Amino acid sequence: MKIGIIGAGSIGMAFAKQATNAGFEVILSNSRGPASLTGAVKALGSKVKAGTVEEAAAAEVVFVSLQWQHLQSVLSGIKWKGQIIIDPANPILPGFKLADLYGKTSSEVVATWANGATVVKAFNTLTPSVLGSDPHVQGGSRVIFYSGNNEAAKQTVSAIIKKIGFAGVDLGRLDEGGKLQQFPGGPLPTLNLVKMG
Ligand SMILES: NC(=O)c1ccc[n+]([C@@H]2O[C@H](COP(=O)([O-])OP(=O)(O)OC[C@H]3O[C@@H](n4cnc5c(N)ncnc54)[C@H](OP(=O)(O)O)[C@@H]3O)[C@@H](O)[C@H]2O)c1
Repeated sequence: MKIGIIGAGSIGMAFAKQATNAGFEVILSNSRGPASLTGAVKALGSKVKAGTVEEAAAAEVVFVSLQWQHLQSVLSGIKWKGQIIIDPANPILPGFKLADLYGKTSSEVVATWANGATVVKAFNTLTPSVLGSDPHVQGGSRVIFYSGNNEAAKQTVSAIIKKIGFAGVDLGRLDEGGKLQQFPGGPLPTLNLVKMG
């Protein structure tokens, strides 16, 4: 399976490392174009290609790791045709100001901007360094929470989480699990949990 990544910063690169280690083909993109990603591609190995945002968005699963202030314009500029979006975004604006979510959870807002795609919230609760480190810890697996409104999409993301080596924990729909995952406000962000056995 190919995974597109839009946003090759701290979280995008940590996820890219885990995905390539697990054998997924990855198309990495940012705002400055493929040539700016030569070093990143070299560091990640032969499973990774640099591409445009459009090329990354054409993959079956697209990990969108952008700062909140860039999400709406990027997502609404793409013609989504059934892709699964993995959304690790936290709704924080520059100056650590909270974005207005109009009473929704952040991924419900993301879903309104990504018309035609299916959003699964995941990978937003760990710091980049923890996300990028070995998910196998002392005989257990580091926990990744996920939530979403579409069961088939959640199964796909759950399989990716498992293949990478994490232990996925399904928190339900975006309006319930999304609240638990939300940063700030939810109880789960920053918790670095390991599922034993
Ligand atoms: N950092 C954390 O501790 C952490 C933890 C959990 C979740 N998150 C969430 O994860 C998301 C990403 O955070 P981050 O820390 O990885 O951000 P980051 O390091 O600032 O990286 C953002 C990336 O987005 C790219 N980008 C910006 N505008 C773009 C555009 N118009 N089109 C394509 N790419 C564009 C940037 O590319 P250029 O450099 O080329 O502009 C950069 O590669 C945020 O929503 C954040 O809240 C972060």
